[in-house]
This record gives sequence, structure tokens and C-alpha cells, in this order.
Amino acid sequence: MNQALTSLEQLLAAMHQTVSVPLAEARALPAGCYTDPAFYAHERHTLLERDWIALAHVSQLPGAGNYLALDLFDEPLLVVRGKDERVRVLSRVCQHRGMDMLPPGYADPSCAGQLPAIRCPYHLWTYDLNGQLLAAPEMQHSACHARDSVALREFRSEVFEGFVFVTLNADAPALAGRLAGLRERHLAKWALGEAKMVWQREWDCPFNWKVLVENFMEPYHHLGAHRQTLQPLMPALGCWTDAAGDDEYLAVHLPLNAQIRNALQRTGQALPGFTPFPGLTPADHLEWWVFLGYPLFLLFTAPDRAFWYRLLPTGPDSCRLLTTMLVSPHAESADDYTGWLARAQQEAIDFHLEDMAVCTGVQRGVKSRAYAQGALSRLEEPILRVQRYLAHQLAAR
Ligand code: FES
Ligand SMILES: [Fe+2]
Repeated sequence: MNQALTSLEQLLAAMHQTVSVPLAEARALPAGCYTDPAFYAHERHTLLERDWIALAHVSQLPGAGNYLALDLFDEPLLVVRGKDERVRVLSRVCQHRGMDMLPPGYADPSCAGQLPAIRCPYHLWTYDLNGQLLAAPEMQHSACHARDSVALREFRSEVFEGFVFVTLNADAPALAGRLAGLRERHLAKWALGEAKMVWQREWDCPFNWKVLVENFMEPYHHLGAHRQTLQPLMPALGCWTDAAGDDEYLAVHLPLNAQIRNALQRTGQALPGFTPFPGLTPADHLEWWVFLGYPLFLLFTAPDRAFWYRLLPTGPDSCRLLTTMLVSPHAESADDYTGWLARAQQEAIDFHLEDMAVCTGVQRGVKSRAYAQGALSRLEEPILRVQRYLAHQLAAR
């Protein structure tokens, strides 16, 4: 047995042991789960490449030809809206000699925009927005070229609550069924399919993807990292983890502080901000939420805005993150919209920089010989739930 396999088996066994306890005995994962290349390769192979990953929100692609170019597990992808209104996830690999037709920084540094058609810069083979080859110069002399049978590879995609998901796995079960509980119990009333993305920012992250997921889901760190930003609004001690979700999703309640809640209940008003999402009840104005649709779909919702984090793992100690903010379709027509947008963007950057600092610090620590699997607080129940989900998935395949 080779060394890498031995260490992977030991790590999986140590992970299994870590998660097989009640919350009062829960601990952080072994360091190798955040650092070991073989463990990361195993996660990629058995879980991440086989599941559904959110790549875009439909409001990023409002019209025919609007596209986003991004890489998912080294697969060059193009998310593009066709003339038939459908959003597809196509491969960027040209079917002539294999060029990535939009490599990062080559033609369009923003990796987003609008295309009349998809043209390979190498020899100008041109595909329509559905991926079908339209034209290829001087190929009439080739006996093995049949234009109508050439098309860009299309990957399976589904739109869930306005988010475009893709899977690289032809056999993955349909996404809609997988996340039905998340939609029906929680998300439907936000009607995020109608929402509009009004802010986004990309970050290169020097930490393992699970460091971000754990940080995103646990409210314990409001006490420290967010003591001046989120803690006054959503005190850590009032937050709690919803029992529902199983192996589909995880939902955490972040109630507003008691003083604010009492004032809202007394006046029947909403907190000042954007025009709230119209489908919410008065009770929905009293708390924020964080959600994780396993394995990577991260949402942080308020009554008047939702933050979607597109997390794309790129290695054992790196990931690429797009932080975004969505608002109700009615928000932009409000008088004070521009002012709220500027304030909300700054707040999103401020609290995210706090998260970047602690996640970067954690990755430095998990690489250290002094790392210990410390005990988890009751407020870190979401971490134990994520650990159990992962251990179950990684062992099952
Ligand atoms: S590789 Fe794309 S046209 Fe030749
Ligand atoms: Fe945070």
C-alpha cells in the first residue's frame, strides 16, 4: 500500500471518529482534512465533482449572449443565455484542436459580457449560443469534417430558485428533488428567482474550502471576528441551528437582538434598508439566516437583501470566492436606493474582510505542528453537522 493511500485511510478513520460523538464532545477536524492533497483529491473525486455546484444567478445573464466564463475543477466553462432564453453551461474547449476559447485574461479580462456568437480566436471556428458549430473557415476540403455534427460539449444544468447549477456528473440525481426541502421550508418566500444581483466581488482565498464553509455557518465568531459589525445586530448567544435538513441542507437562525426585535414588533415596521422581499411575514423580519445547500451553496439572507457566496475549491489550501448581494426587484425604484446600495456594499466588504482575516489565520494554524483538534462550542453545532455530512459522503462512495 502506498504512503498516500495509508495517510488517506488514516485521515478518513480519524474523521469518522471525530464526528461519531454528541455535540458536547465535538471537536475540530484533523488538520489533514484541510491540508492533505490526497484528502482533497478524494473529496473532489467522491463528492465535489459528482454533485451540483451553483455558478451564477439568472440576473447576471439578463439577455441573449450574456455570459460568464469560469473554471470548475479545472474544467473551462461558459455559462451563457441562448437566443431561446435558456441558460446553458457549455465547455469552452474548441472542438477543432482543443483551445480554451476564453482563457483567463486572454480576450476579456472581466470573464463576463455579451457575445453575438462564440468564436475561437485560434482559427475562427464559430459556434452559436447553443454551442452548435456555425462556420469553420476552409474546412470544406476535409473528408472528416461534418459541420452539423460538431458542437461544444454541454454540461447538465438546472436553475434552482434563480441560481444556475451545474454538475460534471452525468449520473447525478436531479437537483430539484435534492433541494426541495430547502425551497419549501425556507427559500420560496424570498422568490430569489426574481431578485437582482446588485453587487459582486471576487476573492482569491488562501484557505481550504471547508474553512470558509465552517466559518460561514457558525455564529460563535460574531463574538470575536464580527464584534463591531454583526454581533450588535445578531448576538451570537441568541443564534441556533435548525433541526431540519438532514443530508440536503443546513439552516441557522440569526435572530436580531432583543431590543430591535421588540421595537419592530411594537411598531410593525421593518428595519431601515432596501425595499424588503415582498413574500416575507412580519416574523421573518425578526431574524436573518445562513443556509448551506450541500456541498457548496452558501446563502446569508436578511429581509431586504441576500448574500450568495459562490465558492469554487481550487486546491487543498485555496479557493476562489465570489461574494454577491441580491435585492428585491422593487428595491431599485425606491428614493434612497443609491444610498442604501453604497452603505450595504461597504458593510458587506467590511464583514467579509473580517472573515477573510480569520479564515486565512486558521489555514496558517492547521498547517502548524502545534495544531490541536480543539473542542467546539454549542454555537458551533453547524460545524458538527457539516463534519457528519462530509464523513458520511466520503465514506459512502
Ligand atoms: S482550436 Fe479553435 S479554431 Fe482551431
Ligand atoms: Fe463571518
